[in-house]
Amino acid sequence: MRHEVIEKSVTLMMVLIVCAVSVGGLVELVPLMMNGEVTEPAENIEVYSPLRLAGRDVYVREGCYNCHSQQIRPFRSETERYGPYSVAGEFVYDRPFQFGSKRTGPDLARVGGRYSDDWHYLHMVDPRVLVPESNMPGYPWLSDRLVDTELVVSKLEALQTLGDPYTDEQIANAPAELDGKTEMDAIIAYLQGLGTNRSNRR
Ligand code: HEC
Repeated sequence: MRHEVIEKSVTLMMVLIVCAVSVGGLVELVPLMMNGEVTEPAENIEVYSPLRLAGRDVYVREGCYNCHSQQIRPFRSETERYGPYSVAGEFVYDRPFQFGSKRTGPDLARVGGRYSDDWHYLHMVDPRVLVPESNMPGYPWLSDRLVDTELVVSKLEALQTLGDPYTDEQIANAPAELDGKTEMDAIIAYLQGLGTNRSNRR
């Protein structure tokens, strides 16, 4: 009988649905906010250097996440292939995270150091030179585009405001560090850093 009252009033039903969903949401979110493993950086995890930050933005802009995930699940089939599984504390400086859900190509969470810079360069220009059956597109134009230094500096400042531990000195040195660097240098530096600072890396 009482249920009928709710079902017949759209407004009441909406209010009650919002209440139910909010309680459910809070039960999921609040414990995570209190949990240091999620909000504190894992051991050895540091902020992105200016060049890697620039590379990360190229990664996002070019949509690499449409084909590559950056999250290793805790299953043997995954850890055997890619390395130790991902933990939340690795992603605290990722805004936004690049977990991805599509694996047309392999997971990249631990790709850093697996190949040389030259390998990455050739692979980024034309993947089929190195992997004949690859269906990954080439990104040759990245070598012709210089990193936008001013933009990176404003991003570093914004991240510092948000609480990422960049020092003023790091930000002041960024333009010199980025001088003459191309977007290709940046994406390679980004890829080479992926997963390398995990203490339990194989
Ligand atoms: C259309 C899907 C697709 C897109 C988009 C794509 N890739 Fe790939 N990628 C692949 C496939 C498939 C492979 C495996 C074959 C190969 O090595 O080329 C691969 C392999 C790789 C590898 C080697 C990984 C390993 O462990 O051997 C790297 C590094 C990589 N991609 C980086 C990138 C970056 C950076 C971007 C964005 C600029 C990108 N990919 C965009 C499909 C894609």
